[in-house]
Amino acid sequence: MNKDNKDENEGQVVLIVLGPPGAGKGTQCKMLAGVLRVPHISTGDILRDNICRDTRLGRGVKKIMEDGRLVPDDHVMNMLIERIEEGDCAGGFVLDGFPRTPEQAALLDLCLSEQEDKKQSSRQLVVRLVVSQHCLLKRLAGRQICPVCQTVYGIHQHQPRTPGKCDADGCSLIARQDDREKTIAERLRNFEEQISPIIAHYAKHGCVLEIDGDRSAHEVTSGILRAIPEDWRAAVS
Ligand code: AP5
Repeated sequence: MNKDNKDENEGQVVLIVLGPPGAGKGTQCKMLAGVLRVPHISTGDILRDNICRDTRLGRGVKKIMEDGRLVPDDHVMNMLIERIEEGDCAGGFVLDGFPRTPEQAALLDLCLSEQEDKKQSSRQLVVRLVVSQHCLLKRLAGRQICPVCQTVYGIHQHQPRTPGKCDADGCSLIARQDDREKTIAERLRNFEEQISPIIAHYAKHGCVLEIDGDRSAHEVTSGILRAIPEDWRAAVS
């Protein structure tokens, strides 16, 4: 295990960041994972990486993602279990884009409780980013990514030093395949359909923080860190 990661004997902390497309989940998860010193796991990134590498999973999900539909639970779940069983997740992880359905939330609970039987306790905390539709559409329209290293750029947040070029490797930036108007509408529709039962699932355990995501990325991160309860903060410090 990386020496920067938490000691697995301290128990596992699982921070789940939920929000509609363009809410800033990826942006926030990256920052939070750095602060909490745990890995950032994005199911969208893992799926896109499989598409890039033309794996069997990638070929199976390419069209689904281009259409803005949800990938079937069993595909995503197998992929996630494989990732969270890696050694660097022993102390915890930040989840970005998962769960997307109440079934995925129930499967994650099961998976974490099986891990608890084996070795350690885990604590889940859910951050729900609330962002206005106007802001979401503006952010998605302005998002550019590097097709090689997948770094995300925006018009207000993390602008490239040279317009249209990746800071890291100089590649020409592109729009994400699923950031087309029709696909965005389908992704937003999926989100609206699934979010209430997912929140109801976690609200039973009293672990949902609602955060105003309409502010600058830095302000949103500060808002999340301030809202994290004292006992949880102690577990990650
Ligand atoms: P996924 O990759 O998870 O996409 P998404 O949920 O649609 O979210 P986005 O990545 O579009 O946005 P984000 O909230 O991460 O925002 P970001 O930080 O990039 O999923 C893609 C697809 O994969 C799904 O449609 C589905 O097909 C499949 N999939 C994934 N997980 C699945 C699962 N569990 N089950 C089934 N299918 C699954 O920010 C957006 C832009 O805004 C950027 O340009 C950024 O720089 C900018 N920005 C961010 N924050 C701010 C801010 N505060 N102010 C100004 N600009 C900002």
